Amino acid sequence: MSEETSKQIAAERAADYVQPDMVVGLGTGSTAYFAIRKLGKRIEEGLQIAGVPTSKQSHDLAEEFGIPLTDFNAVDRIDLTIDGADEVDPAFNLTKGGGGALLREKIVASASTREIIVADESKMCDALGAFPLPVEVTPFGWQVTRLHLAKLGCEPVLRRIEGEAFVTDNGNYIVDCPFERIDAPIALESRINAISGVVDCGLFCGLAHHVIVGKVDGTCEELTGPV
Ligand code: A5P
Repeated sequence: MSEETSKQIAAERAADYVQPDMVVGLGTGSTAYFAIRKLGKRIEEGLQIAGVPTSKQSHDLAEEFGIPLTDFNAVDRIDLTIDGADEVDPAFNLTKGGGGALLREKIVASASTREIIVADESKMCDALGAFPLPVEVTPFGWQVTRLHLAKLGCEPVLRRIEGEAFVTDNGNYIVDCPFERIDAPIALESRINAISGVVDCGLFCGLAHHVIVGKVDGTCEELTGPV
């Protein structure tokens, strides 16, 4: 079985946790895609929920699969969010933002009673950092912000698509920071987010409650963690 199938197994299992009348956070990326698609099928069968997308991409998928959306500002809490991750460590710290949606993903995760992370086995790691850490920065002064980030021990690179700066749904840039190994993610998150010009970074600490790992043998493992 392929990595795609592992993603699908994990994501569709997570969609089973959605109950009627929930407000559901809709994650971003190739794994969350399968959860959104499965929720669309459940809605066809009569499930009633209201979705809060974490990106324009997940907004468009929700519309495609017939998931009713609500205004995020009209709700106090999100009952359950299903999202992907780029890395997951044993304490359920995450690296996110490979798709550039980290800011909205973090706001939604922070408002969620339960955050389920769906991933294939390749995302599980002993320590974060092998995946370059995405940091969302304002376009104004991004070079100076990049130099401040470099002082934390990496060589940050502005993310580009076809030669042009990648622009997030919020109109910002992403600087990818290859730290190689992050031993103290909570402390690093604080240091990065204290830099003027940084909007947020892709370290998600203490936000995931449940991780579902899809395996190539067609099974999935469910981990309930330290949060
Ligand atoms: C989007 O910005 C990211 O945080 C994704 O959730 C993360 O990159 C995982 O994406 P995949 O499921 O496509 O690997």
